[in-house]
Amino acid sequence: MGESSGRSSAETIEFRDVTKQYPGGSEPAVDGLSLEVPAGEICVLVGPSGCGKTTAMRMVNRMIDMTSGDILLGGRSVRDRKPEELRREIGYVIQQIGLFPHRTIADNISTVPSLLGWSKARMSERADELLELVGLPREMRDRYPSQLSGGQRQRVGVARALAVDPPVMLMDEPFGAIDPINRERLQNEFLRLQAELRKTIVFVTHDIDEAIKMGDRIAVMQVGGKLAQFAPPAELLMAPASPFVEDFVGADRALKRLALQRVRDIDLWTVATCRTGEPTAGVRERTAEADLDIALLVDEHQRPVGWLSERGLTGERIRSELRSPADPVVDLDDILRDALSDLLASESMYGPVVGAQGEVVGVLSMQVISQAVGSAPSEVPGATELAASEHVNGAGDATGPDEE
Ligand SMILES: Nc1ncnc2c1ncn2[C@@H]1O[C@H](COP(=O)(O)OP(=O)(O)OP(=O)(O)O)[C@@H](O)[C@H]1O
Ligand SMILES: [Mg+2]
Repeated sequence: MGESSGRSSAETIEFRDVTKQYPGGSEPAVDGLSLEVPAGEICVLVGPSGCGKTTAMRMVNRMIDMTSGDILLGGRSVRDRKPEELRREIGYVIQQIGLFPHRTIADNISTVPSLLGWSKARMSERADELLELVGLPREMRDRYPSQLSGGQRQRVGVARALAVDPPVMLMDEPFGAIDPINRERLQNEFLRLQAELRKTIVFVTHDIDEAIKMGDRIAVMQVGGKLAQFAPPAELLMAPASPFVEDFVGADRALKRLALQRVRDIDLWTVATCRTGEPTAGVRERTAEADLDIALLVDEHQRPVGWLSERGLTGERIRSELRSPADPVVDLDDILRDALSDLLASESMYGPVVGAQGEVVGVLSMQVISQAVGSAPSEVPGATELAASEHVNGAGDATGPDEE
């Protein structure tokens, strides 16, 4: 396990006045780019086509050499490192995944380990470990890329990039070719993985919504390779630095802020839960005290079954008569934007929220969400740092200055 020692801890990435002028180009592809990505964070480069995102990213592992300036990895200039060495140490995921079609999934994952001369046994063990990590069944190891779906191939791409546990990952539109539903799932999985792995990541996308969801910090670039703004997502949404950024971020900034908060960050409604056969009187009492005036029927593991109808409450004891199923069930870890779209899709004004074991912890409603949108402004400076600390559970209580 400890064999890849020294590799696994994350490193900062620092761009210092980096410029790339391609031969024959009229203006630089990247122009005086300076920014610092703290160790363990995701920095998203976002901007219109041709603004220099890919060029900026590829200078980190020297697939492209810079014209001037410097890039430091963990304080060391990439200029002092061999390109081959950098490429081995930096995980790289691209949109067209770039799996070798005639090699099995396990062999694809082992591309870099085999360059490093790992033993067969060690490579095989690592491939299994990585398949599990990215949520693919082990049986897939002997298949070929064409026998996998696009989303599965993308997971293989991520597994391959993680093979030697690199401190730094470069990801160029990694989910760009995936349909919206699988894309949302991959984003969530990847964020969960990153919460554990804490790599330093440069992530390229042209989709501002993806940038807001994935980034600890976002670098908005404009054509000509100039940095328009570098800020945490909340700041970008609240205080765009220029008309260009404002335009790029788009008109529905309030809605976009929904991607900054998770269901667990806000004050949910309370609800009375009940089990079939329990005395009715107590349920009526608890319902009167709760925020929601109907009770939620749950099973023996406190998992939601459905909303109790008036008739279910008429006898001495609760009968499992439902007015409607508990749909949608919202996960405590969902971002508000995704939870809202689930509410809208099921034409429901509210939905039970469940924790890790599927147990009911409260109710999310349209009102709760609109309050959350209204209170977001108070979180502007460094919302990500704040969210990472424990103090902020009551984000829904925050009374921010009025916007506009
Ligand atoms: N090898 C090259 N030689 C000359 N010019 C190049 C080369 N690669 C890229 N460019 C130019 O540099 C600029 C930045 O390109 P780059 O690929 O970095 O943009 P990008 O932001 O990644 O765009 P996209 O969103 O379309 O992928 C573009 O004007 C492009 O035409
Ligand atoms: Mg590109």
